[in-house]
Parts: sequence; C-alpha cells; structure tokens
Amino acid sequence: MKIAVPKERWANEARVSISPESVKKFIALGFDVIVESGAGEGATISDAALSEAGATIAASAVEAVGDADIVLRVQRPMSAGEGDADEVAMMKSGSILIGTLSALSNPEQVELYAKQGVTAFAMELLPRISRAQSMDVLSSQSNLAGYKAVLDAGNEYKQAFPMMMTAAGTVPPAKVLVLGAGVAGLQAIATARRLGAVVSAYDVRPVVKEQVESLGARFVEVDSEATEDAETAGGYAKEMTDEYKARQAEVLREALIKTDIAICTALIPGRPAPVLIPEETVQDMQDGSVIVDLAVEQGGNCPISEYGEVVVKHGVTIVGHANVPSRLAADASLLYAKNLLNFITPMVDAETKELAIDWEDEIIQGCLVARDGNVVHPALNEAEETAKAS
Ligand code: NAI
Repeated sequence: MKIAVPKERWANEARVSISPESVKKFIALGFDVIVESGAGEGATISDAALSEAGATIAASAVEAVGDADIVLRVQRPMSAGEGDADEVAMMKSGSILIGTLSALSNPEQVELYAKQGVTAFAMELLPRISRAQSMDVLSSQSNLAGYKAVLDAGNEYKQAFPMMMTAAGTVPPAKVLVLGAGVAGLQAIATARRLGAVVSAYDVRPVVKEQVESLGARFVEVDSEATEDAETAGGYAKEMTDEYKARQAEVLREALIKTDIAICTALIPGRPAPVLIPEETVQDMQDGSVIVDLAVEQGGNCPISEYGEVVVKHGVTIVGHANVPSRLAADASLLYAKNLLNFITPMVDAETKELAIDWEDEIIQGCLVARDGNVVHPALNEAEETAKAS
C-alpha cells in the first residue's frame, strides 16, 4: 500500500502533511511512502531527511499521487481551473484522501471526489471526543496560532509586555484582552502571561471561566444567566440572542478602551465569526493599540480587519495575517503529520498490514465525506436537500 504526499500549492501554505518521524511509523505499519520533491521545504523538512527516513522522492505531484492508495494533504486539493494542476483528477479511483478539506464550504468539490471514486476524510470534521484528541488537527493548529498571535501582536506593539523597573523609570505592563477562550485563546492567554502582560479574557461559554482563571487571567463576565445555554453538546459556542449581543458589546467596549492588545479568536462553527470589536469601538481604543484577528478568514471578530494584511485604522494596528499556523510551518507540520498518523494507525490491521477500516466507528463516520461514488456526510446531504427544496 502506498501513501503519497504532494506539495501544497495554495498561497500562504508552507506546511506539509508528513515528517521524517511519521514516514518511519508508516513504513513500520506496512506502507510505502512517496513524497513530491520539495514538499517539506517550507517547513524546513528536506527531501534528504524524508528520504533518510525511508520515503521515496517523486519528481512531480502526478508521479507521487498517480497510483497512491492514500493521499495526505494539509489543505484541500485544487480542482480544474483553481491552479496550474487538477489535483483531484490526479487521484486514482479507489484511493483515499485525508486532509483539512474545508468540506462544508466546498460541497461541489466533495461531489468531484465522489465522481472520481475517491474516499475522502475531512479532518476538520473530526468529532471532539477524548479518543480523537491525538488526531485533532484543529486543536494542534489552533494552539500554535494562539501562541503566534501574541508574538505577532508584540511585533506591532510599540511598547513592552512586562513591567520593567529601570533606573530611567518604570515601564508599565501591557494589558492584553483575549476574546474567545477555546484552544487558540487559552494558548494566547498563557503566552501573554509568560511574556509578563496583565491578561483578561472573555468567552460566551461560562465553563471556560475556571480555565481562564487557572492561567492567571481575569474573566470578563457579561451576563452569567444568559450564557448558561451558550454551549452545544459538542463543546462549541452557539449564536447568542440580540439582547445578549447588545449587553456584550457594551461590556467589551468598556474593556477594550482600556486594553493595549486584543487577541481575537472567537468562532462559531459553520457561521460567520461573531463581531466583538465593531468599528465604533476601534475608534474609541487608544492610539497605538493592536488587534490581532485570528477569526479574519471567517469575516473577523473585528469587521474592519483585512485578510492577509496589517492595517492601521483609527490609530489602531489591526493584524489579519492569513493562515497563521503556517507562520510556524515547522512545528505545525510535525503536529499535523502526527495527527494524521494517529488517525490512520487504527485503520491498519496489525497482522495483515492491510487497511481494515471500521466504517461504523464514530470517528470515521464523523469525518467521512465521500465513499463509493457518493457524498456521504449528513451535513452535506442536508445542505443539498435544503438547497433543492428552496
Ligand atoms: P472554536 O475555534 O470554534 O471557537 C473558539 C472560541 O470562541 C470558543 O471557546 C467559543 O466558545 C468562543 N466564542 C464563540 N462565540 C463567541 C462570542 N460571541 N464571544 C466570545 N467567545 C465566543 O473552538 P475551539 O477552540 O476549537 O474548541 C472549543 C471547545 O471544544 C474547547 O474549548 C473544548 O471544550 C472543546 N474541544 C474538545 C476537544 C476534544 O475533546 N477532543 C478538542 C478540542 C476542543
């Protein structure tokens, strides 16, 4: 059985879905591994390091992917017309595609996988259950993004993070407010604290209050009664009522005008990011403040942030870097590759070294989007039914 890893071709993508360590483990599981030359370059993983670990290096994507049984990717492949190669058509019928496929926002592409006879697993749909934690690409990548967001803020902020008492005077500590205290937000809190900032954080899910406080940050409360119902069974946030949003805007405005740095990480799966820093609040923030909007790809927690840009508006620097995990491509790739290894390992029969996928497994069912020529994920089929009905 052959696992192939092509080079990622989307702009701003420096990560790769394999590492020397995962090559060795895949070989021990009974796979041959073939990697397109240069695939690891952006993540400082050389062809030589992969080859030394046992991978074969292919000169092109077609050569790598053409007769592979499993294709590993970071991002979804390009379809015809999206780039200089049709990366879906390259895959043979009966092969398996695994990656962060953004399946719910690209349903037409999932249909192409089905047409091509490709079985596809969208890792962003992995159920958030304890057994799946080691496979959770959203967590591994968000964690790094939360850390990097604080460093990116420090880069733009013209003052220091820690309090410094010097002979020339005292430098006050930076005040950091983290909006959204999920995986990225909690790492941002920890990083800002380590740098010596005074940190507070806000989230609609009241369960995170304790986690925020255990990291040494203050929890900003809006209305504890209204947030009792803020979480889904899967641990994600829900969209809040208009009344709550108005109260939230008021409390956050008060906090933001006293803040030096805001790190925005608030997201609601499948919906645009909640607006937490409207333009009027940016106008009231102090000159020289910095906003890092990690939610920019989903529209932003600050609607005037710009995707892929660092802009100054109303005296506030607003950072909207694209693909923040890729800005730490080496670590992000190592963790991502490990996530995929942990996902694939239980699919392999240890004795026969053949694939023996348990199609009834909750983890498999959670992220399987195409199989045997059909689109199979309930969320995609529901969306199609709704579109047909309207
Ligand atoms: P996410 O990236 O979807 O959202 C980030 C944060 O934004 C969340 O904490 C959410 O509550 C918050 N948020 C949403 N709307 C908001 C608003 N209007 N105002 C303020 N904050 C808002 O979520 P993430 O970070 O990927 O994970 C969320 C939770 O999922 C985790 O905290 C954890 O409880 C659970 N989880 C479970 C895992 C497992 O068991 N395998 C793995 C990872 C996460």
